[in-house]
Amino acid sequence: MLELEKISTAGQPAFQEQREYWDERWNRQRRPNDWQLRRGQTILELARDLRLKDPKILDLGCATGWFTAQLSGLGKDVTGIDLSEGAIKLAQRDFPEIHYIAGNIFEMNLPAESMDLVVSQEVIAHVPDQHELVRRIARLIKPDGYLIISTANKFVIERWDMGPDPDRHIKQWLTMKSFKKVLKPHFRILKGLSIIPIGDRGILRFLSSYRFNAMLRPLLSGDQIEWLKEKAGLGYSLILLAQKK
Ligand SMILES: C[S@@+](CC[C@H](N)C(=O)[O-])C[C@H]1O[C@@H](n2cnc3c(N)ncnc32)[C@H](O)[C@@H]1O
Repeated sequence: MLELEKISTAGQPAFQEQREYWDERWNRQRRPNDWQLRRGQTILELARDLRLKDPKILDLGCATGWFTAQLSGLGKDVTGIDLSEGAIKLAQRDFPEIHYIAGNIFEMNLPAESMDLVVSQEVIAHVPDQHELVRRIARLIKPDGYLIISTANKFVIERWDMGPDPDRHIKQWLTMKSFKKVLKPHFRILKGLSIIPIGDRGILRFLSSYRFNAMLRPLLSGDQIEWLKEKAGLGYSLILLAQKK
């Protein structure tokens, strides 16, 4: 059993509570949903385009390990790390050929400058100190190595009725601007994408409405409308490709 800090900082849930939250979540949801698969596909394409030779890859916040398994198609040396011991047990059971570690990235002393690529999907919004997370990730990456990182888009989250979400869960959403700003001390941003347009409040209610989309349909296909919304930064998921400075 991992020994984790039990006292929360600045009124945020402590790591122990976070771990319990994610253990319960991944016990309920063992397989990725369509949005996770779409995000994974986009990130895999970005990673493939880097054309890294025998890269050492870390999937940070890998949950049940489904995406770490996909990354193993790019290089043999792939590791998945997650706070949730329950998720890591499932990952080890389902993908025994891959190296998974249960641990808290804020308390792990991993070898510096050991990774060619770190991928971290939807983790940064759920940690107590985003700047420290980015500093720790940068430390793990070789000079000129890469980071592909995603997070939920604050602009969309604030205009979308997602239903109830427990308090125990740290949520510090980022806009594209604030996301880039957190990375900039350690990384050069090479590419920024927004994918999966969604939302049902404010301006997003209008842009998602049947009336608005029917107006565009004589001119544009459904895929083209979606593409335009993504280009306008209205995607639920923000993805950055960055290179270590
Ligand atoms: C929203 S989930 C994303 C899971 C997966 N990357 C995906 O996209 O399907 C966030 C994950 O980050 C992990 N996580 C949160 N804080 C962590 C920490 N301090 N160290 C390691 N993993 C952490 C959680 O356990 C959880 O599985």
